[in-house]
Amino acid sequence: MQISFVAPGEISQGAWVVAAAEGAALLPAAVRADKAAGGALTRALKATPFKGKAGEFLDIVAPAGLKASRILLVGLGKPAALDEKGLETLGAKIAARLQAAGESTAVLEAEVPKGARIVAPQLAAYLALGARLASYGFDKYRTRNLEDFRKSLKTLRVAAAGPAAAKKAYAGLAALADGIFLARDLVNEPPNILYPAEFARRAKAALSRLGVKVEVLGEAEMKRQGLGALLGVGQGSTRESQLVVMQWNGAPKSSKAKPIAFVGKGVCFDSGGLSLKPGGAMMGMKGDMAGAAAVTGTLLALAARKAPVKAVGVIGLVENMPDGGAIRPDDVLTSLSGQTIEVLNTDAEGRLVLADAQTYTRRRFGQRAVIDLATLTGAIVQTLGFEHAGVFSNDDKLAERLGEAGRHTGERVWRLPLDPFYDKMLKSKIADMKNIGGPNSGAITAAQFLGRFVENDTAWAHLDIAGVAWQDGERKPAIPSWGTGWGVRLL
Ligand code: BES
Ligand code: MN
Ligand code: ZN
Repeated sequence: MQISFVAPGEISQGAWVVAAAEGAALLPAAVRADKAAGGALTRALKATPFKGKAGEFLDIVAPAGLKASRILLVGLGKPAALDEKGLETLGAKIAARLQAAGESTAVLEAEVPKGARIVAPQLAAYLALGARLASYGFDKYRTRNLEDFRKSLKTLRVAAAGPAAAKKAYAGLAALADGIFLARDLVNEPPNILYPAEFARRAKAALSRLGVKVEVLGEAEMKRQGLGALLGVGQGSTRESQLVVMQWNGAPKSSKAKPIAFVGKGVCFDSGGLSLKPGGAMMGMKGDMAGAAAVTGTLLALAARKAPVKAVGVIGLVENMPDGGAIRPDDVLTSLSGQTIEVLNTDAEGRLVLADAQTYTRRRFGQRAVIDLATLTGAIVQTLGFEHAGVFSNDDKLAERLGEAGRHTGERVWRLPLDPFYDKMLKSKIADMKNIGGPNSGAITAAQFLGRFVENDTAWAHLDIAGVAWQDGERKPAIPSWGTGWGVRLL
């Protein structure tokens, strides 16, 4: 979908989207539309219960006296309550509504209602972001009935009093949307297509043209360096494991600051390995690389908006498969850190991948803070369901900032404890630790395991995103695909 910003004016075709505040108070463009259509809106308001609540709609199809195919009146709700997240949701709902109506072009009048606390460029930009996010689709593998799947809306012109300022405010958000779309694409791709080397190729293709330095380490190099835990997970697969290192340096050249690091779990398919998952639980495990996808999307968003920061992304890409070469329950692996791990369940593989990715990142970059993202445990889904990711951290300030970012973006997180008591549950009979805890508190013991590979002078947060990385239930208008792209906006 093409989004542009224009000055308000007459509309010659497509849908004309105008707004009313709560109490059905028409904004100026709505008044103009009403006049142009001979009072059709005023009459319709009398004939319907439309009150102008946020997200309420009133459609006037083929209005007499106008070239527009429809006037779509949108409720904004209480002006003082309008915020960025709400506007984005509204923009997404509008786009979804226009799609459902089969419209291909529309003008969206972005006016600030009296009493609103948001400025005009921001209002226009967040409406546009919502519309853009709602335009996402993943239909590349459909060959039949394409018109049922392709989104009809091709051009959206956002009419704002200062179109140049709105366009500028949107530029950073468009970069964000690009990052989210990349993450969604990666999660939605089937695992026969998106295996580790293919993921690495796509990351490189998408990021290097934006100035991100992308390196890909294969198995020979990882073996040389000693990433025994990560390599162990991939050894039952015919696909080669990869470690991808992405560096974005938008900080001033003189800056001596250490980077912030993002580490992602990239299990391109998680069969469970020899501790095989039952069939039902295996479905959807193509998405077990969503942490890596979020890290890749974040790097893209940072680079596309030329963010003045130093950031690195490190993702461990593997496929967890059972075959004659696969790791066995009872095997002991030696991690890059030197710590040994007794693998008692090959399905607890994400922590093995992250352990080595963490050590590698720390040794190479000495980052000041690190955030890892992983679809790590079923236990976090049982605990928090689909509305919050779990966050574990050794740093209250970092945890609080993630909480705040979550409330702001809608990608919400909920903090769970780290504690030596849980750590004890990782004691192994023969090695430094085992890769599973007890039958309870599985998300926490998984986090404790990761904590053993983090140096305590580094601010660290672990996000368990198993419940939020994809969705099988009801979809929000701004998240119209299975893969949500969760994490990009939060980070
Ligand atoms: N990738 C899974 C976690 C998962 C489960 C993500 C459901 C999304 C939905 C992870 O590798 C896993 O299998 N974890 C095990 C750990 C257990 C064996 C200690 C789990 O949660 O059952
Ligand atoms: Mn697993
Ligand atoms: Zn997994």
